[in-house]
Amino acid sequence: MKFDQEKLQDVYNLGNSNIGFAHRAKTNRNSHFSRIASAYEDLRTTDIEQIIFIRNNLHNLTSLKGADIGCGCGRYTAELFRILGDKLHLTCIDENEDMLKQLTKNLEGKDLQNFDAVKAPANNLPVESNSLDFIVSFNAMHHFDIIGFLNESSRTLKDNGYLFIYTRLRSQNKRNIWGRYFPKFHEKETRLCDLEKFKIVLEKTRLLKLDSVKYFMHKRRVSTNWLIGRAIHHHYSTFDLYDRKEFDNALLKFRKNIVDNFSNRDDIFWEDENTMFVIRKNVQ
Ligand SMILES: C[S@@+](CC[C@H](N)C(=O)[O-])C[C@H]1O[C@@H](n2cnc3c(N)ncnc32)[C@H](O)[C@@H]1O
Repeated sequence: MKFDQEKLQDVYNLGNSNIGFAHRAKTNRNSHFSRIASAYEDLRTTDIEQIIFIRNNLHNLTSLKGADIGCGCGRYTAELFRILGDKLHLTCIDENEDMLKQLTKNLEGKDLQNFDAVKAPANNLPVESNSLDFIVSFNAMHHFDIIGFLNESSRTLKDNGYLFIYTRLRSQNKRNIWGRYFPKFHEKETRLCDLEKFKIVLEKTRLLKLDSVKYFMHKRRVSTNWLIGRAIHHHYSTFDLYDRKEFDNALLKFRKNIVDNFSNRDDIFWEDENTMFVIRKNVQ
């Protein structure tokens, strides 16, 4: 896993101090994503299994006109192009301009041109009705007005079109390294949904139906310092839900919990779990 400490320190202007930086209002997710945009790809681990899964679902389609909602800096957008190839056209939508700038830089740097980068909220997509073969959204749904996003997906998808939502469930978040050892991480992250709640919300959109649910397990193996670095740089927006003092104390406790629970502080291992909802519109 790549970790560009210098770049990250630059982003947060950390100098040599590790713990302790400006408290950011929890409601201000846009400034969180602006601050983190240029380092985002280095901070998060990009997995490939879910992209292969999407390809396998779409393999019969002759047209591949899609949208990536809450696309961020485009790390999964780039993977979609790599795996789905030249037939793909993607409208990349995010409400954060800095993320979109980073996405454009990333994709153009890889010589990819078959995309538009559009600033818009997930509940008001500037996309023609009945025009998309598929929509994807990775790690972003918990930031959205979910009903609004589902209604817009229903409006913009063609009949038989696919909506792939990749997320972590609340229960999965509780079992990961942060949920187990970082004080209050699970309790504070109430934006994530569980399967039953999601089904109830989905039922409110008349034309969308849950086709299947796929679970993913990703093995992780890193050092304690790697983990501390991630938390300091708020690689999950959950950390924005702590005030500064609370975060600093929680980080110290997290470090102690890790050291107490693993025999080698340079060899910390766990499995990250994620879920993909496969949803179809008005299947004939
Ligand atoms: C955790 S990041 C995930 C980015 C990307 N999908 C990935 O996995 O790398 C969430 C993204 O959703 C965007 N976002 C949050 N709320 C949004 C909304 N209501 N409408 C559109 N984008 C939103 C953020 O700006 C951010 O880029």
